[in-house]
Amino acid sequence: MSSSSSSPTSELPLKPIPGNYGLPFFGPLMDRLNYFYFQGEEKFFQDKINKHNSTIFKTNMPPGPFIASNPKVTAVLDAISFSVLLDTSKVEKLNVLDGTFLPSLSFTGGYRVCAYLDPSEPNHSSLKSFFLSLLAKKHDQFIPLFRTCLSELFIDIEEQMSKEGEAYFNTLGDSMAFNFFFRLFCDKSPVDAQIGSKGPKLFDKWLFLQLAPLVTLGLPKFLNLAEDLLLHTFPLPSVLAKSDYQKLYDAFNNYSDSILDEAEKFGIKRDEACHNLVFLAGFNAYGGSKTLFPALIKWVGLAGPKLHRQLADEIRTIVKAEGGVTFSSLDKMVLTKSVVYEALRIEPPVPYQYGKAKADMVVNSHDAAFEIKKGEMIFGYQPLATKDPRVFENPEEFVGNRFLGEGEKLLKYVYWSNGRETAEPTADNKQCPGKNLVLLLCRVMLVELFLRYDTFTIEAGKLFLGSSATFKSLTKATSI
Ligand code: HEM
Repeated sequence: MSSSSSSPTSELPLKPIPGNYGLPFFGPLMDRLNYFYFQGEEKFFQDKINKHNSTIFKTNMPPGPFIASNPKVTAVLDAISFSVLLDTSKVEKLNVLDGTFLPSLSFTGGYRVCAYLDPSEPNHSSLKSFFLSLLAKKHDQFIPLFRTCLSELFIDIEEQMSKEGEAYFNTLGDSMAFNFFFRLFCDKSPVDAQIGSKGPKLFDKWLFLQLAPLVTLGLPKFLNLAEDLLLHTFPLPSVLAKSDYQKLYDAFNNYSDSILDEAEKFGIKRDEACHNLVFLAGFNAYGGSKTLFPALIKWVGLAGPKLHRQLADEIRTIVKAEGGVTFSSLDKMVLTKSVVYEALRIEPPVPYQYGKAKADMVVNSHDAAFEIKKGEMIFGYQPLATKDPRVFENPEEFVGNRFLGEGEKLLKYVYWSNGRETAEPTADNKQCPGKNLVLLLCRVMLVELFLRYDTFTIEAGKLFLGSSATFKSLTKATSI
């Protein structure tokens, strides 16, 4: 198997990219309706793969008219070709965070924040270096602060279980994640910073208005066209989130003084740094957690009591031997680590990636090579790449120990952080600077869960952004 996505000396047959974009306006519109309503995203892609007998093909991607001026993309939907999107020497990542459209900059104080910048822009390097140094400085707070937030979360979950017989994880998990990131960056609880418990709702509205062109609410069929007109045809006005955003901005501006002082040393203007910090906390960190944590709980919950017992054994034995939950003890929990990678593989929290070809290039799938021209938009639907049956055995199955031992070799095909799991974020690439923090938080979440409980059951559902998980039972730990 070739490990490179593109190679001029490829021995695979060079083929024209199959597929077409249809008539102007009507082609993109049909693709949008198929994607959201008639087929749904997985079937939309799978049908085109089957039709063209290729994991690389041309298609339109939503939203199309009138939000995106050019919806035409080349889709790369296998583990090999997808990796071209991770190579910033080949693709330009300017304004492509949300795909073929850029939400109004009024959502971000008039600034193009870090996630919209290509590494060739000088601002990207200063902002990303600043974030990496900020996270390094906060490193010692990660474990104790997150454990405190998790203790509060489990109290809330148990309280809801005893009152209602079940506990909806998503809302409680969102509050926990908001609290954690706010306290990490502002050194204050949101309650002491005039935000109270409203933080998640403020960010939710702001996120929804930006991401509406990419979501469907799953309403009854007769409302589909009305929803399409409302969410996917014209951008929703940023003014609807203006006062919510201002509250969040003011809180960060008031309470993260030392962070903003530090940003100025990186040559970043104070207000630009603060808008970037709000985006980092609200879109990247809180937004990412919103889909990640419920998916983790869902998959581990559905995996059942055998895996729960193995995790509890590993976690309790190592915590006891090491005398606590530390970076070193977490590092020794090989099964826990593998389970976290597997959750990130089977349901990557950010499923779409885009990049514009920087030059003419050849991109390989498993079976053929295709020429992509400079300036063309390349799009990857990550779940198909990380569930590629030619790389992962039983790709649709959650296999907790998949990445143990020899399985570690497959980590290079885990792409959730917009980079290979074996690579690290730098100022010159577009990999998530929160990568290692995110892995740590997932591990600590499992540690806290299995220090407290022997097993649990979950009812899973689907939301417009990711999965939902509802605790149906929790069995308290019998031995520690
Ligand atoms: C919680 C789960 C998280 C997930 C799933 C996630 C995922 C991602 C992904 C996929 C990207 C690349 C987007 C693209 O360009 O296509 C990204 C970028 C980014 N993430 Fe994360 N992230 C998470 C948490 C965090 C955290 C905790 C931070 C910081 C504290 C963070 C900061 C950023 C920043 C600043 C970027 C832009 C990087 C750049 O422009 O080079 N993220 N993240």
